[in-house]
Amino acid sequence: MRQICLLGATGSIGSSTLDLIRRHPGELTLKAVTAYRSVDELVRLCREFAPELAVVADPEFRESARRALSGTGVATRLESGPEGLLEAVALDGVDTVVAGIVGSAGLAPTLAAVRAGHRVLLANKEALVMTGELFMGAARESGALVMPVDSEHNAIFQCLPRGSADGAGIETLVLTASGGPFRSWDAAALESATPAQACDHPTWSMGRKISVDSATLMNKGLEVIEAHYLFGLSQDRIRVLIHPESIVHGMVNYADGSTLAQMGTPDMRTPIASGLFWPRRLPAGVEPLDLVKAGTLSFHEPDTKRFPCLALARRALEEGGTAPAVLNAANESAVQFFLDGRIGFMEIARINARALDSLPSGPADSVEAVLEADSRTREQVVQWVKAGPAGSDPNRQPAD
Ligand SMILES: NC(=O)c1ccc[n+]([C@@H]2O[C@H](COP(=O)([O-])OP(=O)(O)OC[C@H]3O[C@@H](n4cnc5c(N)ncnc54)[C@H](OP(=O)(O)O)[C@@H]3O)[C@@H](O)[C@H]2O)c1
Repeated sequence: MRQICLLGATGSIGSSTLDLIRRHPGELTLKAVTAYRSVDELVRLCREFAPELAVVADPEFRESARRALSGTGVATRLESGPEGLLEAVALDGVDTVVAGIVGSAGLAPTLAAVRAGHRVLLANKEALVMTGELFMGAARESGALVMPVDSEHNAIFQCLPRGSADGAGIETLVLTASGGPFRSWDAAALESATPAQACDHPTWSMGRKISVDSATLMNKGLEVIEAHYLFGLSQDRIRVLIHPESIVHGMVNYADGSTLAQMGTPDMRTPIASGLFWPRRLPAGVEPLDLVKAGTLSFHEPDTKRFPCLALARRALEEGGTAPAVLNAANESAVQFFLDGRIGFMEIARINARALDSLPSGPADSVEAVLEADSRTREQVVQWVKAGPAGSDPNRQPAD
């Protein structure tokens, strides 16, 4: 019986995980759930699953959560704030943590889960991007099993002998990308892309931040960094291919000429089930893949001119130190400004480039150093946006 702490229970990864928990009551118990502000949904989950602990991460929403929970007759204990998230991870009996919080807010509880030696299903890629070496070092020290939930990394994990890349004779890894909703848009059209269009992903249904990251290809850039840390390969051996059908999720090219690929209907329940049950395989409710119905599968190189974020992520990885954390923070802020209608779509890439160009990076030798770089970058992005970048103006020069 896996005893699960579900971080980000009210999100897209959270909802896929809950579906699996419903399907396997004899295998999976939900011990703790967390949300940021979605109080009603959190309380609904408490009614359904009666977890021991529920955490509302924004302390300002604690009182409304307490009121909503008090009439339910459910004995779930309520906590709030960042300390509440750490309590959820450390709850007695928890052995598996699903890291489904979006963005850097997930860093502290995800790292705590790794340090505690839990099985950690890593969806929150930002945590690994920010603290790469520290994160993987902590996992080695504690013996935590980090199971990638990103479908591409989970695919690669499944194509490796015993999930490990060490001494496996690997030449290259391939991460596929759908190309997002703007794959065939020209540069001028991209300037005026709206948040609703960016969040309308052609093959995956996801939260808003990762949907925008998919549209800019920053998601794939973050995934290159993630793959580097998870599998220990240099980035020149991590290739990205656009594959609009999202059927092949990842591939491993071996020294003997073999290529192993993992395929499946695009549905996050597959990688989450793989992470929960590995090395066993149990039903996940996913429609079986029918290659005849899927039709032609196509692959091509990404266009880093229209989608510069992928190249920016490679550059940050090359620079090392806190550069990936700087890029991640700039991107998170810029995406939020875009979703709030404050900047245009292409401004996201310009802000990210400007952050890498102008903000110094230092050694990422402590979590404090990384968090310092993160908050310095966010403050700077606020200043840049206040100073009035005109992201929706196609004639605007890059922000520098
Ligand atoms: N969705 C996918 O298919 C997918 C695939 C691969 C990887 N991922 C990764 O998985 C992570 C989650 O993505 P998602 O699509 O599930 O996002 P999402 O639908 O937006 O859900 C985010 C979850 O995090 C919580 N949250 C947001 N801000 C928070 C904060 N400051 N402190 C604590 N909790 C906070 C949200 O709570 P509220 O509901 O209360 O706001 C929600 O439960 C991301 O890192 C993403 O890159 C997602």
